[in-house]
Amino acid sequence: MSRLDSFIRRVTAQRDCLNHVAGLVAAVPGPVLELGLGNGRTFDHLREIMPGREIFVFDRQVAAHPDCIPDDRHMVLGDIAETLPGGLARIGAPAALAHTDIGTGDEAANARIAAFLAAALPPLMAPGSVIVSDQKMAPAGWTALPLPDGVPAGRYFIYRHP
Ligand SMILES: C[S@@+](CC[C@H](N)C(=O)[O-])C[C@H]1O[C@@H](n2cnc3c(N)ncnc32)[C@H](O)[C@@H]1O
Repeated sequence: MSRLDSFIRRVTAQRDCLNHVAGLVAAVPGPVLELGLGNGRTFDHLREIMPGREIFVFDRQVAAHPDCIPDDRHMVLGDIAETLPGGLARIGAPAALAHTDIGTGDEAANARIAAFLAAALPPLMAPGSVIVSDQKMAPAGWTALPLPDGVPAGRYFIYRHP
């Protein structure tokens, strides 16, 4: 498969999963957490498909398209190892949805981040909330949900609060 096809499949799966989980949390109150602003693509998509939701974005830097940068109150700058613990005070209420997209090509680093997130995210999340992730995680007591039609197993991961 060409790298172009591979990229298209990856972002198509990402979009389809975000659209799917937006429906799953429609009745769950609370803000949205976006972990990894990057160039702002998925932040921009989330604010389009979830109008009216507060979205807090976590990244160690701002390097996004100028149209896709949250305001200062919603941009949480720093390493998530520092900003996520105690993050409830910043976001104001338990979150309905968290999207994590901070994986890299380094499998060992990805495993460390996934283990950290599995422990650090649940205290920020509301009952019935959903975590959608580019990395396999094992948040204790959370249920792994099926992916939307057309998204191959292992490409993205969805977990629901018990
Ligand atoms: C793949 S990009 C996110 C792409 C984004 N979802 C988009 O659609 O444009 C990953 C981002 O995660 C951030 N990141 C990676 N590890 C991080 C960490 N430990 N703390 C904070 N940000 C981190 C990087 O700075 C980078 O901007």
